[in-house]
Amino acid sequence: MISDKLNAALNGQINAELYSSYLYVSMSAWFSARSLPGFANWMRCQAQEELFHATKMFDYLNERGGTVALEAIAKPDNTWDSPLAVLEQVARHEAHVTQLINDLINCALDERDHASNIFLQWYVTEQVEEEASVGEALNKLKMIGKDSAGMFAMDLEMGKRIFTPPVAA
Ligand code: FEO
Repeated sequence: MISDKLNAALNGQINAELYSSYLYVSMSAWFSARSLPGFANWMRCQAQEELFHATKMFDYLNERGGTVALEAIAKPDNTWDSPLAVLEQVARHEAHVTQLINDLINCALDERDHASNIFLQWYVTEQVEEEASVGEALNKLKMIGKDSAGMFAMDLEMGKRIFTPPVAA
């Protein structure tokens, strides 16, 4: 059985993951409207990953005899000045999520809930990958600057991303 405190913290994280998905879908729409389908695809895959993060936690909470209590999802931003501004926000957001996961693990340790600590380690690794992936895209975008040929090539590359749910989830 999971403690009330950790139950509430996990529900908070489910909401944060769903918000992340919502934010990335909003970003995907912004790119679509600017004829950058590759970036739009990349953001859509990102949104699918976040939904996966939320449902994985949802299933875990149920499995532990906890109570899933969904809250309202905040309205995401929908306007940005440039593709660079979008990816900078993604990078800031992922750093914030990493902090949330770290706080969640601290909560699990405070509650002496070792199963939750082990479960949450998956998210620690996932955050390393997420921050690296957005960091790489951000660096490329900075190198491209205002070069439209570079932007076109990067859009093609971003269009190749496919969301594959992790097998051992
Ligand atoms: Fe679920 Fe991108 O953190």
